[in-house]
Amino acid sequence: MQTDKTVSTGCRYREWTSLLLTAILCFSFIVYLYLYVDTTNITKAITFFKNIQGDPQFVGISGQSTLYPWKERELIKNRTKPLLTLFTSWLDTEDKYLVHNITSVNWLALRPFVVPIVFTNEAAVGKVYARAGWLVLPVRVAAADGVPVLKYMYLDAMKQFESDFYTYVNSDILFTNTLVDTLIEIVQNNQTFHNSAQSNSISQHHTLIIGRRTNVFNITMEEGSSWSELTKVAKKKGELFRSDAEDYFITSSSYPWIDIPEVVIGRRAYDNWLVMNARKQKHQVIDASETILAVHQTTKDGNYEGMKKKTKEHNHNLLVTLYKNVQYSLGVTECAEYQTTINTGKISIIFRTNLATYCRIQ
Ligand SMILES: *[C@@H]1O[C@H](CO)[C@@H](O)[C@H](O)[C@H]1NC(C)=O
Ligand SMILES: *[C@@H]1O[C@H](CO)[C@@H](O)[C@H](O)[C@H]1NC(C)=O
Ligand SMILES: *[C@@H]1O[C@H](CO)[C@@H](O)[C@H](O)[C@H]1NC(C)=O
Ligand SMILES: *[C@@H]1O[C@H](CO)[C@@H](O)[C@H](O)[C@H]1NC(C)=O
Repeated sequence: MQTDKTVSTGCRYREWTSLLLTAILCFSFIVYLYLYVDTTNITKAITFFKNIQGDPQFVGISGQSTLYPWKERELIKNRTKPLLTLFTSWLDTEDKYLVHNITSVNWLALRPFVVPIVFTNEAAVGKVYARAGWLVLPVRVAAADGVPVLKYMYLDAMKQFESDFYTYVNSDILFTNTLVDTLIEIVQNNQTFHNSAQSNSISQHHTLIIGRRTNVFNITMEEGSSWSELTKVAKKKGELFRSDAEDYFITSSSYPWIDIPEVVIGRRAYDNWLVMNARKQKHQVIDASETILAVHQTTKDGNYEGMKKKTKEHNHNLLVTLYKNVQYSLGVTECAEYQTTINTGKISIIFRTNLATYCRIQ
């Protein structure tokens, strides 16, 4: 009897211990997630931005030639918030390590004007990129076998961070300071625009900035982490990609993303639909191809990766269900009512007076 009792008490004791241990483990994990993934990074980023304001030397990567020129350094001092929240998402695959590492270094160099975010539910990606200085947010809504839905990334980024502009960008696109210079010009020109007679029918309240990309094969880390090298290699080996492919969608801070259908990234059709929709809604659409250098890191997979996926028609099917007949041709870059241009180093925004007939909205 005595022995039996001891055994059963021991057993119960062990059950309770393991239950308690599991509870503690779960709790710690939640606390870890909360602190690590969310608050810590956001606080870090905000502190980072505050620290940087007085010290332009922080900008760029130490030892690299990617420091902002004097003009931008002066502008940093007057800013109270970042210019652009720049986000992306990808699935971790080994053959893309180099591409994403180059993107990581390239986007970080644009701080503090630009704040890079990766949306991921993969702990490994979150950890590596958080350590590198990126912000990490979870993918809240996915479709088409786990692909992030575009609008929720915008809505989450807009809710968590204050900046003049927000954009999703494909994770293999690299920029130079021409991105910052162009956006600064657009912000500073807003009032002039507002009063211009040409733009009467177009509201300046919501802005969408898009542009063409330049494809460059086999970019190296050395090229991707220096603005001057990247500019050189784009000029020498780059090829301007087709005008119906858009890789970034820079929108002003109050853009009505809430009304956009649940298209996913990385599948065709949503880019042209977004531009077409913005034009129909009379938002201000600006083609920045001439002043923003956006370099696509083309690898052996080529330039049409999304077309190989099983759910490649997800967006098209969704849009056709919602709107029946979709005129994608209204959403190519050259149909934007405005364009940026550069003349002896000075960027300006001009109204396009001679849009092609295929751009006409009936
Ligand atoms: C920054 O603000 C100061 C004071 O308002 C102004 O004099 C200066 O021109 C501004 N600098 C730039 C680069 O805009
Ligand atoms: C890139 O990042 C991955 C992890 O994200 C790492 O394992 C790899 O060694 C890095 N470097 C290169 C050149 O791929
Ligand atoms: C331009 O000004 C309008 C009206 O004040 C404002 O709603 C909009 O957000 C501004 N756009 C940019 C890009 O700053
Ligand atoms: C890029 O590199 C691959 C090897 O990974 C090679 O087969 C290909 O020819 C290169 N392309 C160019 C245009 O240099």
